[in-house]
Amino acid sequence: MGFIAPRAAPSLPLMTSSPVLRALRVATFMALAAPGAVLAHDYVNGALASPFRTIVQETGLWSIRLLVLGLMIAPLRDITGWIWPLALRRMIGLFAAFYALVHVVAWTRQYGFDWAFLMEEVTRLWLLIGAVAALALVPLAATSMNAMHRWLGPALWGRIHSLVYTAAVMGAVHYAMARGLTQIEVAIDSLLILAALVWRQIAQRRKKIKPAALPSAPA
Ligand code: HEM
Repeated sequence: MGFIAPRAAPSLPLMTSSPVLRALRVATFMALAAPGAVLAHDYVNGALASPFRTIVQETGLWSIRLLVLGLMIAPLRDITGWIWPLALRRMIGLFAAFYALVHVVAWTRQYGFDWAFLMEEVTRLWLLIGAVAALALVPLAATSMNAMHRWLGPALWGRIHSLVYTAAVMGAVHYAMARGLTQIEVAIDSLLILAALVWRQIAQRRKKIKPAALPSAPA
């Protein structure tokens, strides 16, 4: 399928103030918070057999799933012309970073905050790759507010936020090394990340060649 330019649609500021979009935001927040709430509920009620291991696994999964979901929004906009999912992208990214943070904290807790041991563990390649993914998420979360966007300017902000691809690729490699590429969700996530990367390359190339390819305006 070829690259399809966005169709005419209402502008994002107009849409973000609509009651429908506000309701959608609340629903999305609840959906994204639900896995964490279920985990917290089970933990508090002693329903988890090996609590920290389960928390590490579940939060790792939700972090990578949400990163993938966030990466799907730009291709979805390009294909359908819908811009409303853009208004949910920051929330999705912040939840991905939140689950990654809980993932790392639960891992340190799983080993009783034994820092000497943990530092040695993190030199293992698959954990080191996970650590790179986690570090890549820090500047993203730290610069997610509108004020930071204004302060940094769109170009620098955009460069910082392209780190989401590093986080997703590293997160997927870490996931594959933990579980193996033959596991269906590892394969699906990896393919979607690859597709998002290819889509972005094509979109960027088209943006670069478009001005030159356009016929010159009549005098
Ligand atoms: C310092 C950073 C990180 C450390 C130390 C770490 C550690 C771990 C550990 C110990 C596991 C458990 C493997 C198992 O029990 O089988 C795991 C699994 C996983 N991690 Fe991480 N991780 C880190 C960062 C990340 C990040 C940033 C992501 C997401 C972007 C992520 C996604 C996953 C996934 C998807 C799994 C597999 C869950 C499963 O199916 O069991 N990790 N990680």
